[in-house]
This record gives sequence, structure tokens and C-alpha cells, in this order.
Amino acid sequence: MRILLLTHSFNNLSQRLYAELAAAGHEVSVEFDINDAVSIEAVRLWRPELIIAPFLKRAIPEQIWRKHVCLIVHPGIPGDRGPSALDWAILDGEQSWGVTVLQAEQQLDAGPVWAWCGFPMRLARKSSLYRHEVTDAAVSAALEAVDKFKTHTYTPLPSSGCGANRLGQARARMRQADRRIDWQHDDTETVLRKLYAGDGDPGVADRLLDMNVRLFDARPEFALRGTPGDLIARSEEAVCRATRDGAVWIGRLKAVIPGKHSLKLPATRVLQKNRLALEALPEVHGPAADYTDGIRYEEHGNCGYLYFDFYNGAMSTAQCQRLLEAYRRARQRPTKVVVLMGGEDFWCNGMNLTNIEAAASPAEESWHNINAMDDLCRAIITTDDHLTVAAMGGNAAAGGVFLALAADRIYARHGTVFNPHYKNMGNLYGSEYWTYLLPRRVGDDGVPRIMNHRLPLLAKQAMGIGLIDECLAGDNRQFLADIESLVKELAADDVFQPLLEAKRKRLAADAVLRPLQTYRDEELRHMRLNFYGFDPSYHVARYKFVYRVPHAWTPLHLARHRQLKKLPVSRSQPALHAVVAE
Ligand code: COA
Repeated sequence: MRILLLTHSFNNLSQRLYAELAAAGHEVSVEFDINDAVSIEAVRLWRPELIIAPFLKRAIPEQIWRKHVCLIVHPGIPGDRGPSALDWAILDGEQSWGVTVLQAEQQLDAGPVWAWCGFPMRLARKSSLYRHEVTDAAVSAALEAVDKFKTHTYTPLPSSGCGANRLGQARARMRQADRRIDWQHDDTETVLRKLYAGDGDPGVADRLLDMNVRLFDARPEFALRGTPGDLIARSEEAVCRATRDGAVWIGRLKAVIPGKHSLKLPATRVLQKNRLALEALPEVHGPAADYTDGIRYEEHGNCGYLYFDFYNGAMSTAQCQRLLEAYRRARQRPTKVVVLMGGEDFWCNGMNLTNIEAAASPAEESWHNINAMDDLCRAIITTDDHLTVAAMGGNAAAGGVFLALAADRIYARHGTVFNPHYKNMGNLYGSEYWTYLLPRRVGDDGVPRIMNHRLPLLAKQAMGIGLIDECLAGDNRQFLADIESLVKELAADDVFQPLLEAKRKRLAADAVLRPLQTYRDEELRHMRLNFYGFDPSYHVARYKFVYRVPHAWTPLHLARHRQLKKLPVSRSQPALHAVVAE
């Protein structure tokens, strides 16, 4: 079928749905919901049999839904309506929730139901639930709806008759007043629910050290206690605040400054404005600081598991350095396999573009960050006393994908989405030894296909082209169990010794053919131009990305309908015409 995805942005859910529909043989094109005229034009050009809206922030124009079946993916159970569905589900402590695929009609989220899929809730950030449970349920419900639509005989049902064991209701947009934390009276679980319901957007408005801020990236603290509402400790990036019956760490803050857009940055960095008060807080060092930063090491038998759950999967220079230290410590253990677990939501998204944007010299910070990433990659590539595994339960993009390729084995959960390219970030050349690692996996011919293909890949597709070794079915819990048994197999003496020997030989042979450093030097020669050269594309793309500048058009590699025909020149849409002519 010809399907149009009409979406606010190409977010993870839209990417996954796009890739799943394409893998199922459908012809899919994407249009960003920029304004009514653009959406109407996209429908006219693509002439879709079906329109799916995986992530919209406004209503579909009546002119479209009156003539075409438009399926809306709503992150709520049947009957639930409103723009804060998941926020309310977290705050209300729902034990189970769901995703409904309904048909667009006059009243928002009130159309008949084509399919829905439920899931048990976790006490987790909204963004984490969205990237796992909601995305899995949305894909399954959307594919079911597409199959029903294909029959041409199915009639969607009102929510009251769609078989759901309970119905949701219309809820208003959640306001900051609903999210407000009462530090004197709220218990730790309530505080966490409020913080989780607002993460990644819009955060919880509060005051810290005399600054108006939005709070993000909360984790529970298990030992420290203090007067409710007081800041009681700091670590590398986070500050710890006491609740009525415990304490929470807050890792990211956005300063609220009237008339100014702020970035979400490490809490200790934002609070530098009140340096004396910040420095008066007791500092937590060692593994506790790692915990607040997301680095964690566990051992099961003779295998070490290194977690690096960095906020949004982005790795700053300091985080790369701390992770490298943790990796070196892991290598010193009398184990056989080191498993790189990444983070829960993202395995890794490469260098930290927000930190770079906030630096005094973004070019200089980009340079430090990419070198720190490269140091980490080199340590993994050259490990000759352990086998290494990348266990990818979360998505990975750009440098994060190539960091995974540094490992000997790569296993991914079936829902993991890969964006193994750098070009979307202002034609960045990329480093992380990709020129060494990628041909090793996909051959010389495969390299341009991957680097020039700017679209997401499903784990099964990544396995099909040899980018990864295995795609594992099942949910997160099953994935962890499967990883443990696969890793155990690798650590068995009769498997481990021959594999380690073969790896040592390969590393030695590769080094004779071409020293590893020369790959890095050549990549960094290009990156230097990206960072310091005359072409500002990378800096512009990064600025737009971290400040979430709304899209002015849909990139041509997504909007297939705009690749087909040239539009007549329209004075009302000069930007659009420019894109088509491109
Ligand atoms: N640095 C800093 N922040 C990053 C990041 C990075 N490398 N990658 C993702 N993020 C942040 C986004 O800014 C966003 O922040 P928010 O919490 O304020 O919303 C959050 O992570 C989620 O990103 P989003 O794009 O909304 O998620 P997604 O799942 O829809 O898309 C990606 C995921 C990875 C495809 C997309 O974020 C991306 O292209 N990231 C950039 C990758 C990159 O170019 N890395 C640098 C080159 S090595």
C-alpha cells in the first residue's frame, strides 16, 4: 500500500513505524506536519491509500480526513483523550496502560478504534516508557490496523465497543500546577512520579539555589537523608535533594530565563551561577558518583557487565573519560567477557551535542569530545585479553552505532532502531574508527550504502546486512536473560580460547596492513574541517537540533512524494519550492 506518515517530527516511534511498514513491503513517504497547506499538498502528491499519524501535536486538516482514512496513534487506552495521556498515566500511578489507533474525526482522539494494545506500566520516565512500551504497543496496534484496513471490509468500532476491559476519559493538558512538587509533604515516590511524568518535556518548574529552573533526569537516592526540600549533596553532574522520606538525585536542569531559550544541561553546571552555595554541598565521589551519572558495573560469573545510562544516550568528553576509566577497571578483573550494556533507553547517541553547544567554543569542545570517544573506541578495539560484547537493548545513532562496532559481538533487541550515519548532523564526516570498523562488517561495497542511506534500520535489517550479529526477540527482561546466556556461551573455555586467539591474530594482521592510528588521523582530518572549516553546516544543524527548532520542510530523503515531481512555483510557499528544486 501507499502510506503517508504525517508526523510532527521523525521521532523514534515514527522511525520504527516507518521501518516496520517499509519492511512489510509498503511504500511509505513522510511529511512533517508544518502547516495545513503543506500536509494537503503532500496528500495530493503521494495519493496515499492510507495516512498514519504516529506523532502529531495538532489536528489533521478536515480537508484531509474527510476524504482519506487517517489513523492516529494515541498513547492512551481506548476512550482516553488529550495531549498529556502518558503524563497522567504516570502521575496517577496506573498499573497498566495502552496505545490506541483511532480514526481522525472532528473531535480530537474521539474517532472509532481500529486497534489497541495494552502494556503493564513501569515506574519510569515518560520518555523511557515512550521509547519502549509505547513504541512496541504502537507498532503492533498500527500494523494490526493496517492489516484490517487492507481487507476493505473492516469497520472500526466506537471505543465503548472495542473490547477494552476499561475505558479512559478526556483529560486536560497537564499544567505546571499539576506537576508542582511539595517538598515538605510529597513522599519520594510521588516526587519521582512528578519528575518522571515531565521528562524529557516539559520538566518540572521549581527553584534551586535562588534560580528558576525546570528539573529533569531524576534517580532515587537510597541512603542520604536531610531536611525535606534541602539540597544535601552533589556529584559529578547531579545534585541530591531531600524529600519527606528519602532523597532524589537531579541530573539535568534547564534555567528559566524570561525571553531566552535555555539548554538542558548538567545540574551542577547550571547551578554554577550560585557557585558558593553549590560548592558548600558535600561532594559524593567514587561509585556513587558513577551511579548518578549512569555508569554501573556488575559481574555474573566470569563476565563483567558495564552499564552507561547517560541522559539521552549522549556522551560528553568527561563521561567518555569516566567510562574509559570504568572500562579499564573492568578489564583488570579476572573475567573473560566484558559486556557493554549502554543505557536503558538509548545504547548511545554519540558525542553530547548539547554540552558542545553550551561550550565557550563549540568547535573546540567538539574536538575534545570526538577524541574522547575515539580513545574509548580504541580501548575496546585493542582489547586482547577479553572478548567484548555490545548488548543493545536501546536505540543507537551516529557515533553510538560505531562505538558498538568496536566490540567483537553485537547483539540487539528486536525493537532497537539504528541510525548508522552522521550526515544528518550537517554532513558530519564522523570518526570512532568507522573507516576501520564498518568495512570489516559489511565489506567495502556496503560502506557507501550505509553511510549515504540516511534512514533508520531495524535490528533485523541490521543483522541482514551484517552490521550486527544477532537480533533477539522478546521484551527488555527477556533480552537481558538472552544476553546472559549468550555471553556465558562465549565464556565457556572451549569457545573462549579459540575466539581470543583468532582475535589476537586478526588484530596483529590488521596492524601490519595499516596501523589503527592512521584510520583515526584520516577521519579527524575531515572532522577538523567540519568543526573549524568554512562550511558551518555542522554548527547550524547542531544548533537547530539542540534548540528543537521547528522543521521548515521535510528532508527529501523522507518525503518521497517530493522526489517525484516538480511543483509549480508558488509565491505563497517559496521555501517548499526551493526544497523540491533541490
Ligand atoms: N547529544 C545531545 N542530545 C542528544 C543527542 C546527542 N548526541 N542525541 C539525542 N539527544 C537528545 C535530543 O536533543 C532530545 O532531547 P530532549 O530530551 O530535550 O527532547 C532527546 O535526546 C531525544 O532525542 P530525539 O531526537 O527526540 O529522540 P528520537 O528517539 O526521536 O531520535 C536520534 C533519536 C538519535 C535519531 C536523534 O536524537 C539524533 O539524530 N541524534 C543525534 C545523533 C548525532 O548526530 N550524534 C552526534 C554525532 S556523533
